[in-house]
Amino acid sequence: MQRITRGNPLVLLIALVIPLVLAGCAGGQLGVKSSKEYRNGMVVSANQLASQVGIAILKKGGNAVDAAVAVQFSLAVVYPNAGNIGGGGFMVYRSAKGETSTIDYREKAAAKASRNMYLDSAGLPIVEKSMYGSLAAGVPGSVAGMFEAHQKYGKLPWADLIAPAIALADQGFEVSERQANELNGLQKRFALLNPSGTAFMKASAWAAGDLLVQKELANTLTHIKEKGKAGFYEGAVANAIVAEMQRSGGIISLEDLKNYEAIWRKPVVGMYKGFKVITMPPPSSGGIALIQLLKAVEGYPLKKWGHNTDSTVQVMVEAERRVYADRAAHLGDPDFYKVPGIQLMDAAYIKNRMSSFTWDKATSSTAVSAGVVAPMEHEETTHFSIVDREGNAVSITTTLNGSYGAGVVVKGAGFLLNNEMDDFSVKPGAPNMYGLVGGEANAIAPNKRMLSSMTPAILEKDGDLFMVVGTPGGSTIITSVFQTILNVIDFDMNMQAAVTAKKFHHQWLPDEVQVETGALDSVAQRVLERKGYIIKPRGPIGRVDAILKTKWGFYQGGADPRGDDLAIGW
Ligand code: DON
Repeated sequence: MQRITRGNPLVLLIALVIPLVLAGCAGGQLGVKSSKEYRNGMVVSANQLASQVGIAILKKGGNAVDAAVAVQFSLAVVYPNAGNIGGGGFMVYRSAKGETSTIDYREKAAAKASRNMYLDSAGLPIVEKSMYGSLAAGVPGSVAGMFEAHQKYGKLPWADLIAPAIALADQGFEVSERQANELNGLQKRFALLNPSGTAFMKASAWAAGDLLVQKELANTLTHIKEKGKAGFYEGAVANAIVAEMQRSGGIISLEDLKNYEAIWRKPVVGMYKGFKVITMPPPSSGGIALIQLLKAVEGYPLKKWGHNTDSTVQVMVEAERRVYADRAAHLGDPDFYKVPGIQLMDAAYIKNRMSSFTWDKATSSTAVSAGVVAPMEHEETTHFSIVDREGNAVSITTTLNGSYGAGVVVKGAGFLLNNEMDDFSVKPGAPNMYGLVGGEANAIAPNKRMLSSMTPAILEKDGDLFMVVGTPGGSTIITSVFQTILNVIDFDMNMQAAVTAKKFHHQWLPDEVQVETGALDSVAQRVLERKGYIIKPRGPIGRVDAILKTKWGFYQGGADPRGDDLAIGW
């Protein structure tokens, strides 16, 4: 790929990143894991360098969208397991005046994709095929999404927002212990899928503090900085993607790239106890499912019962079981399938769904019990929340799907391809890597967007901003956002406590309550087990990054301690 000449990289780093980072740390403001409160704005993301870049943009006079663009590109460098330019995501926006919008920059199936492309001759799913290698990749949407957001709302020049990411890629950054461990665990897969090597591969083991330098990625980002959307979807970078497809058996073409469009969609909006919830419509299932869950539990005295008591957990689990069953049958890309969103969120419909549950025993999910659930793949997506000085808010969840996506780094262009095709239902009833099942609504078709669970959300109270929230976690995204909202509204937690609180999850199939260690006390667990609930202990659930606006007009951050996440306010 042609390399664009730039100035001395060291000078560039000093000129761009250091002032931004210093600005981010100045004025007595600290990164917070507690609920310190700030007046002028806040950035909460999965990586401290990305949070620093975002806050520096806000301090320079950029708005929340400017900061979001800079954070998305920076995460592609410093958080490559999920931050991306080779993946996609969703943005929910609310201006200080209350105008709302969403951008769908979800990946889509290539024009050459077909319904049975991941099945063998006996019609059975070849599991690895939708998970690893170029054939697992959908047409990336992130660059188009950011470009579109910036065109409509951006204040600072586009180039200024990409520059910090370029410097971080060019000069490198120190990996954390968590990142070093992840990279070490993936060496074999990288070697298998990338015979000519990648920046992530190393002869000796990665250790905390090692420098990860990504020259090819810096070069790709420079194309994007100089040519905008066309810098990725046309020219040298597009050619590199298609060459990679030819090398490693993928099907994305130059036309697929050129035709990719991010789409403005009307947000899904619902009310919960007087709070307005503004969130993502299909092709994410997250928004509709979140509203359904909130409505399903609204009539129950959760506060009186208390956080994670047996009654509270039982009613939430029964709501989750029913909502995920609806998800499997009714949700898919609205441009290909008529999603009955209004009916699904109708209060009478939801009440009726809940009427089949009884207190004495667990409802059974066995009506569709066929299919052995695939083991959980390590989950990676990332969410960030931003509020600027005027009070404009951005909630973005973005992903490559699995950790480090398809494992393929586009040769010469230095970025990872997503493995989002696995989010389609590759065969009716066959679980994907998150154990989710689906049918016709989410079947593969050329140019169709795969169903997502990502649930970036913004809440309002009395016409004013109240919360910005979202999380990674595959199928657990929806239930983690649900619990974080209840933790604040019903259980009176501050933002950090609501994020930190242990979580649980039910998704209809498999018929089990996944419980993060420590989420349930022994009494609640015993009562639920006696009623027939299968309690399945598991590791961390979610990695919520959220912002709460207090009634005094200050911002509280909630940065998830399950990761290296950081909230910075000013
Ligand atoms: O769009 C979705 O629902 C999935 N691709 C999200 C994957 C995910 O959250 C993995 N992360 N933790």
